[in-house]
Amino acid sequence: MSSLGNITEFPENASCSVNHDGRDLLVVRRGDALFVYENRCPHTRESLDPMGGSVASDDGLLLTCQRHAAQFRLDNGECVGGPCLGEQLEAVAVIISQGEIYLD
Ligand code: FES
Repeated sequence: MSSLGNITEFPENASCSVNHDGRDLLVVRRGDALFVYENRCPHTRESLDPMGGSVASDDGLLLTCQRHAAQFRLDNGECVGGPCLGEQLEAVAVIISQGEIYLD
């Protein structure tokens, strides 16, 4: 089982795109918490970050899709604004062991 990386490698309150074993993931660290979602917007099923860079707000609480500005809560992936209101990002369960992040 390969690691996604060490939690310390992920900047706080910023999203990082990671391709892991053929899956496109979005990883966001907020304090000691780590959130991982499939990098696929429920609106068009395409990635949230075609322009690159972070899609997280400065406080890390919201993710905004770069395509049509849908906004998602970081903590549960729920769309709270934009064209796919009420839909969800798909959460990816991870295990953190000695700082290393593994898919569950
Ligand atoms: S593809 Fe994300 S808002 Fe349209």
